[in-house]
Amino acid sequence: MPSSHILKHFSRAALAVTLSIPLGWYVLPSAVHAQTAATPEQQRQSLIQVLQQRMPGTSASDWMLGASNPAAVVQAIPLNADNATNSADILAIGKKAWDRKFRDGKSLANCFPNAGKRVAATYPQFEPKTKMVVTVEMAINRCLALHGETEIEAANSAVMGPLSAYFRSLSDGQRLMVRVATVQAQGKFDAGRALFQRRIGQQDVACASCHVQNAGKILGQQGLSAVVGQAVTWPRLQPGGRVLGLQMQFQRCMQRSGAEPFALGSEELNNLEYYHAFVSNGLPTRTLAVQR
Ligand code: HEC
Repeated sequence: MPSSHILKHFSRAALAVTLSIPLGWYVLPSAVHAQTAATPEQQRQSLIQVLQQRMPGTSASDWMLGASNPAAVVQAIPLNADNATNSADILAIGKKAWDRKFRDGKSLANCFPNAGKRVAATYPQFEPKTKMVVTVEMAINRCLALHGETEIEAANSAVMGPLSAYFRSLSDGQRLMVRVATVQAQGKFDAGRALFQRRIGQQDVACASCHVQNAGKILGQQGLSAVVGQAVTWPRLQPGGRVLGLQMQFQRCMQRSGAEPFALGSEELNNLEYYHAFVSNGLPTRTLAVQR
């Protein structure tokens, strides 16, 4: 299939720039394909190698800061930058919700080891009992349900946004440490990787097309960031104070591909997040980076 088939869906300006992207647009590097038998850690390493071939002289710690992106569109800004007041307000709202006493006298801190400190950086987690991937947002809701409290809709970013941001902020600076320890857990990881590599939507592109194969390049006005490093600075604070969760970004990118996005908290997006987060393992997490 000629590459112009997808490219025509982008704007003219985007097209002009995108045409400089080689025909390999569709084709995933063989190193990525050949990963099926590899352990998740080996896959993470070979993904880093592929990305380093795309962006010579850079490393994972550059990518998480958006340094791979010449336009710096996706550059993450630390909490104490321009939006500090706003970020602080949001964290204060989140802290209030975190500290709120349940009717049984407990609070969210009771559901997590170490009262939730340095815990969020280990999510998503595979839960052997239910054979499910549990995200930060799900873990919060599990706790609410366990104590007879009303759960919070994942899409309710005014409530879940600040609360998940506060929970994650208790891990700020902690290195992301997602575990894929069993065969069953790897099944979820593999499902997430398959979705990451599957071409979807009217554009017929995969996440990997943009965030591996063409990482570091510009599409239209926007830089394409590397997948490694993408998971560590969530949620994001958008202009206007809306808190954007990682899965909401996944949905945005599915829409960009012309696909109907999976629901927040769906098995598909949870598995995708499990894979997506794992490949950023070892990088320091930071909450409420400002999205421009
Ligand atoms: C056609 C190219 C394209 C495809 C396909 C694509 N994305 Fe993106 N992605 C982008 C662009 C451009 C951005 C910049 C931010 C924005 O505008 O949303 C982005 C941003 C992101 C970010 C935030 C990165 C950061 O650090 O700011 C994540 C995470 C992400 N994409 C994940 C995905 C996932 C998962 C998929 C597959 C479901 C996917 N993307 C598919 C182009 C793409």
